Amino acid sequence: MTGGDGLPTEADCRSCHDNLVEFPLLGETNVNKHHLLVGSQIILTTAPPDAEPGEVYECLFCHPAVWDPVISGYTVLMFRDCLVCHPIETVSGPPRMQGSNRHHKLGYSCSVCHEQRR
Ligand code: HEC
Ligand code: HEC
Ligand code: HEC
Ligand code: HEC
Repeated sequence: MTGGDGLPTEADCRSCHDNLVEFPLLGETNVNKHHLLVGSQIILTTAPPDAEPGEVYECLFCHPAVWDPVISGYTVLMFRDCLVCHPIETVSGPPRMQGSNRHHKLGYSCSVCHEQRR
């Protein structure tokens, strides 16, 4: 489940994160997962380009407003590619040597995500 460079792509992320039937412990759709964060404290390693840090997550943190000279107004950006905001090293790679893949810090059994490893 990888792109040409061996690293996972947005489609790989969505193969699990958009599949609540196979991964019921996600609990919520990916859109809801993000929107339930509104009002909670900001963790800055996960941020889209042009995000302006504040205290808590608000719409404009994840959907920054940028000036568009063509329309002489602000456009609110809609990022959907996970990897624009989630740095690849925080969501991929093996668990050994204290890897930075946060999936491996959740304490679930391997079989929740990997069929062959139990
Ligand atoms: C094999 C299935 C699978 C793949 C592939 C996958 N995830 Fe996950 N991910 C999960 C599951 C299951 C959880 C746990 C959900 C929970 O506890 O709510 C999770 C949790 C997360 C978390 C939250 C971790 C935390 O600290 O709470 C983030 C962020 C995340 N995934 C992003 C990604 C991104 C980005 C990708 C693509 C590079 C990706 N995931 C690929 C299944 C997957
Ligand atoms: C923590 C980041 C985050 C915050 C805060 C946030 N969003 Fe989002 N929003 C996202 C992401 C990521 C997506 C795309 C999810 C996907 O495609 O799976 C999204 C999608 C959307 C969509 C499209 C929904 C759909 O069904 O496709 C709308 C509309 C939206 N956001 C509006 C808002 C509004 C309004 C707020 C403030 C109340 C807000 N967002 C706050 C991250 C966020
Ligand atoms: C616009 C930026 C943005 C995009 C695009 C985005 N995320 Fe996130 N995501 C965030 C932020 C900010 C957080 C909160 C900080 C954190 O937990 O890293 C978050 C948190 C999460 C969480 C944990 C939610 C929780 O309950 O704590 C999961 C799971 C997740 N993202 C998965 C994904 C997946 C999968 C995609 C792509 C399909 C994606 N994200 C796209 C910004 C984004
Ligand atoms: C919550 C989901 C989740 C759990 C639980 C989990 N992993 Fe992973 N694991 C992932 C994701 C997502 C990747 C990134 C896949 C990639 O890089 O293509 C990954 C990558 C890996 C990799 C490197 C890439 C590969 O497929 O060879 C290894 C090895 C691995 N996991 C082993 C384990 C072991 C062993 C356990 C149990 C101790 C475990 N994982 C538990 C989600 C999980």
